[in-house]
Amino acid sequence: MRTIQRIHKPTHSLIRELITYTALPTRTIDYLDPFLFLNHHGYQEYPTNNLGLPFGPHPHRGMETVTFILEGDIMHQDSSGHASVIEAGGVQWMTAGKGLIHAETSSEKFKKEGGPLEILQLWLNLPARAKMTEPFYEGLQKEAIPTSTLDEGKVTINVTSGEITGTKGVFTSEIGVSLGTLYFKESGKLSLDIPKEHTIFFYVIDGKLSVNGQTIEARSLVEFKYDDTQVNIEALTDSKLLLGHALPLNEPVVSQGPFVMNTEEEIYQAYQDYQAGKFGKWKF
Ligand code: FE2
Repeated sequence: MRTIQRIHKPTHSLIRELITYTALPTRTIDYLDPFLFLNHHGYQEYPTNNLGLPFGPHPHRGMETVTFILEGDIMHQDSSGHASVIEAGGVQWMTAGKGLIHAETSSEKFKKEGGPLEILQLWLNLPARAKMTEPFYEGLQKEAIPTSTLDEGKVTINVTSGEITGTKGVFTSEIGVSLGTLYFKESGKLSLDIPKEHTIFFYVIDGKLSVNGQTIEARSLVEFKYDDTQVNIEALTDSKLLLGHALPLNEPVVSQGPFVMNTEEEIYQAYQDYQAGKFGKWKF
């Protein structure tokens, strides 16, 4: 079985009224190559007549964001002209590539009516060869995400990209990341076979899991060694898991705010290009 290297606990903050747990990076870990960043927003209930999500127009370059809407919704708009409202169970995949500007806010309906909100945003690194690729965005609703059930219905796997237990995901990852959300009913069991050289991204969203014999509480990021292929999971309570795995890029990571490049010079260039309007025009 894969050895657990360390359990990392997120840092807690409020962005306006948005409850935010940052699971990556934290004081104990910078990144898990090629996984760079994870914010876990909520779970919380927004009141009627709220202001919605606080993320107005801002740029990105050199990475990808994958956003999982567990509860509530997100209205995405970007400088390439994409606009969509994705609801609970849906996923947004955005490749920033050479640069775009996006906003993540809430639909008019959510702002008026309020309701439950829980959202995860994961950042994937892009390799040097793809950092300046054309930007891409696609948002898919719950119905479009491939799902499989195992262990007599006690384990449900929603596959975002790559492949998990034989089910293929709907998005294409530039760097071959397998990614999905897994829902366990209490006592649900799952055995995963993951290449030894892959980094595993394992974040317990909710509940409590036994992982290779060790109990992992909610809001924990599990860092594994690279010593075996087997990960055996048993749900000690109803649980939710964000799972990913991929080969590490093994490239230098120079990250500043919304830009993730390989060198300081490239970060400087990103600011220059953004200020020169090369990330596109905001039309909304
Ligand atoms: Fe963003």
